[in-house]
Amino acid sequence: MAAQFQFSVCLLLMTISQFISASLAHEMNCYIVHMDISAMPKAYSNHHSWYLATLASITDNSKLTTTSVPSTKIIYTYTNVMHGFSAILSDSELESLSSLPGYVSSFRDAPVNLDTTYSFKFLGLNSNYGAWPDSDYGRDVIIGVIDTGIWPESKSYDDYGMTPTPLKWKGACEIGTQFNSSMCNKKLVGARYFSKGLLANNPNLTISMNSPRDTDGHGTHTSSTAAGNYVDNASYFGYAYGTARGMAPHARVAMYKALFNEGSVSSDILAAIDQAIEDGVDVLSLSFGLNDVALFEDPVAIATFAAIEKGIFVSTSAGNQGPLLETLHNGTPWVLTVAAGSIDREYVGRIILGNGVTITGQTLYPNNLTHSQNFPLVFMGECDDVKKIGTGFVVCQDKTGALSEQVYACLNANVSGGIFITNNSDLGFFRDSSFPALFLNHQDGETILKYINMNQKAQASFEFQKTSIGAKAAPKVAAYSSRGPSASCPFVLKPDIMGPGDLILASWPSNVAATEGSSQYFSNFNLLSGTSMSCPHVAGIAALLRGVHPKWSPAAIRSAMMTTSDFLDNKYNPILDSGALNHPASPLASGAGHVNPNKALDPGLIYDVKAADYINLLCALNYTSKQIQTVTRSASYSCSTASLDLNYPSFIAYFNANDTSNSNELTVQEFHRTVTNVGDKTSVYEAKITHMDGLNVNVVPEKLSFKDKYEMQSYRLSIQGPRRMKNKIIHGSISWIEVSGRHVVRSPIVATNLSSRILSGRK
Ligand SMILES: *[C@@H]1O[C@H](CO)[C@@H](O)[C@H](O)[C@H]1NC(C)=O
Ligand SMILES: *[C@@H]1O[C@H](CO)[C@@H](O)[C@H](O)[C@H]1NC(C)=O
Ligand SMILES: *[C@@H]1O[C@H](CO)[C@@H](O)[C@H](O)[C@H]1NC(C)=O
Ligand SMILES: *[C@@H]1O[C@H](CO)[C@@H](O)[C@H](O)[C@H]1NC(C)=O
Ligand SMILES: *[C@@H]1O[C@H](CO)[C@@H](O)[C@H](O)[C@H]1NC(C)=O
Ligand SMILES: *[C@@H]1O[C@H](CO)[C@@H](O)[C@H](O)[C@H]1NC(C)=O
Ligand SMILES: *[C@@H]1O[C@H](CO)[C@@H](O)[C@H](O)[C@H]1NC(C)=O
Ligand SMILES: *[C@@H]1O[C@H](CO)[C@@H](O)[C@H](O)[C@H]1NC(C)=O
Ligand SMILES: *[C@@H]1O[C@H](CO)[C@@H](O)[C@H](O)[C@H]1NC(C)=O
Repeated sequence: MAAQFQFSVCLLLMTISQFISASLAHEMNCYIVHMDISAMPKAYSNHHSWYLATLASITDNSKLTTTSVPSTKIIYTYTNVMHGFSAILSDSELESLSSLPGYVSSFRDAPVNLDTTYSFKFLGLNSNYGAWPDSDYGRDVIIGVIDTGIWPESKSYDDYGMTPTPLKWKGACEIGTQFNSSMCNKKLVGARYFSKGLLANNPNLTISMNSPRDTDGHGTHTSSTAAGNYVDNASYFGYAYGTARGMAPHARVAMYKALFNEGSVSSDILAAIDQAIEDGVDVLSLSFGLNDVALFEDPVAIATFAAIEKGIFVSTSAGNQGPLLETLHNGTPWVLTVAAGSIDREYVGRIILGNGVTITGQTLYPNNLTHSQNFPLVFMGECDDVKKIGTGFVVCQDKTGALSEQVYACLNANVSGGIFITNNSDLGFFRDSSFPALFLNHQDGETILKYINMNQKAQASFEFQKTSIGAKAAPKVAAYSSRGPSASCPFVLKPDIMGPGDLILASWPSNVAATEGSSQYFSNFNLLSGTSMSCPHVAGIAALLRGVHPKWSPAAIRSAMMTTSDFLDNKYNPILDSGALNHPASPLASGAGHVNPNKALDPGLIYDVKAADYINLLCALNYTSKQIQTVTRSASYSCSTASLDLNYPSFIAYFNANDTSNSNELTVQEFHRTVTNVGDKTSVYEAKITHMDGLNVNVVPEKLSFKDKYEMQSYRLSIQGPRRMKNKIIHGSISWIEVSGRHVVRSPIVATNLSSRILSGRK
């Protein structure tokens, strides 16, 4: 599934760059223009008329045609996410605009990438206690999902059992191709679409589904993961059979479609988030991001700054470019950045050998083979030269990590079936083959190889569509999950947290193929992998927390989830990393740990952050005043307390100086943190720091005493180490442990010798 997804993203990028080169020839481009609203002359009744007048004053007459009169040059006027507009401008018009009073900055509109029934139990959610009953399953919390649209016919959006839509909601159900206002209800409370920017960038484009309707499947899957209602007997061709539901089954969904099969651009994303804020969403789920952009030119970072100022929680995907370091997007200090991990569920098939011995292998083959039929088994070594052998199953042994070559060799040879013996534990990409394929570990592989060796007429029968629960170890960080540090702000440790992302069952449009390959199979549910899937899980959990703690800031909700997350797997060992030979995961892969919704309800202490603290960080990144204003939307901020030391529930320290001849010379890095007591009125916490090799980590004071709820206490953490560390990454943690209480408030610490690049402005 994930492989299919990455493939379609590539296609999408190719098409977009073709469009861009075509539009360059016309010298008219689409720009996002930031304006200083405080410079608006009093004569204008509103910002829209000021922007129109500004554009009229700079219109390049030589290029003026009936299609470029000022009122149609504007694509969108933005109100909440930024002050400004998007418009089609020539180079000379842009130049005139930039010398006018009120102009702050502008960026070329840019394409955006998507990242491509049981996970609730794995997360410990149940109806007897904890986040579900306490929040009434997220009732009255509205989750805005910016994505590829929605398939409203899915049972996940039935509104049975739902109370009336909250009165504060101002959203709408927009009419478009195959979509009308009757398709919304008390579960799907809003559905809108934003394609004007895409069309402005590509005037000749025809959008096949210009409406909130989903023709891709991604948006239907992500929104039902966050807040789908209960659906009985859900499965993917028999796999993962059970009752499906989202993380917050009684929360409401509002879909903002800004990602189209034909492409996606920043100006539409900004318009979608602008409208979501206006409509009154409580949580935003964004399963996409832009790579390699500075905060002040990242539309997601800009728009979400406005969102968190209004108290809206934002969950974003880290990206699927792992396992290399520094591959993460959405490393924005004010959002939650979510990594992806596996769950303890496996999809399996049985191989019944001719001698009666049964072996289990992983598979997602959607069809059944006739139970009684026996198929010959033929071992072909490492399968670099596969030949089709009648109706037989080819057996391949992966000795060098060439699994994908072997799978494709079998596909090309049109084999009837394949059995792959491999150590690869990240099988998500291969399990959905169009021919019956099973994946065995080496131990089971030995059994089958022995049987083939000893029998001239080796044969087996097969049973597919089985599900096995309790796989160990789980969770594991998925190899594809993007790794920190964040290029846009390396001083804040990212990702923040991990959530279930591997082979997640959720709703799917019935008219979009749910399988890959030559044989297309259709299903109302599909299993997808990616940080696109982990992001809406955590968005749904944020909705539960918002339901229980309506007054908590987005930073408080983030802190509660991070400091209570699980750092041990279901074997009580540190969470492992599939992308690092199954060694323990570093926080640059897993963040603080695996989200634990019930523990997050009651974190004891929280690390809160105010908008002004984020601005202090922007100041310390040495941004120009115009760059800062692009994010803050206002020039009335002060940089007098600039600081990179954000009050964040995690720590990252760089030991990479190369300005000294003696790299063994010691240096100290200091961090200051303030925690707020949200637990019992009186409580005492003691610090516990894990050992970090070659480093000296200290905390002052070592004990924090609280006498009141919401009381704040501060501490200082210092890390002493060599100017240039000999290890790439050393990680540990600091836990504040409540004395004779139940709270443990844990934060990850990373020390690294990486010389992170910091993205500054594109010239
Ligand atoms: C919306 O479309 C559905 C299905 O096509 C139809 O049954 C319904 O009457 C339509 N509603 C409106 C308000 O047009
Ligand atoms: C768009 O269509 C017009 C008229 O058919 C054509 O002249 C123009 O070259 C096309 N533009 C692009 C970018 O394909
Ligand atoms: C689900 O399956 C059970 C058992 O096969 C059946 O009794 C029930 O009616 C089914 N429910 C739905 C909604 O199809
Ligand atoms: C395959 O067999 C299983 C039972 O073994 C059944 O539940 C499922 O519906 C069958 N699938 C197909 C596609 O026939
Ligand atoms: C697979 O794992 C086994 C046991 O850990 C090991 O002996 C073997 O060398 C591994 N094979 C490959 C190809 O990595
Ligand atoms: C592949 O094999 C199937 C039968 O197993 C056959 O129907 C089909 O035509 C073959 N396709 C090719 C391209 O050889
Ligand atoms: C910002 O500029 C100051 C003064 O030049 C410098 O010391 C500091 O390292 C810079 N900060 C960043 C994040 O580049
Ligand atoms: C960082 O550590 C790695 C070993 O983990 C080492 O190979 C590399 O040279 C170090 N980098 C620097 C700049 O010292
Ligand atoms: C090390 O020095 C080089 C050359 O002066 C410079 O480009 C680089 O940014 C420095 N790295 C760090 C981590 O300061």
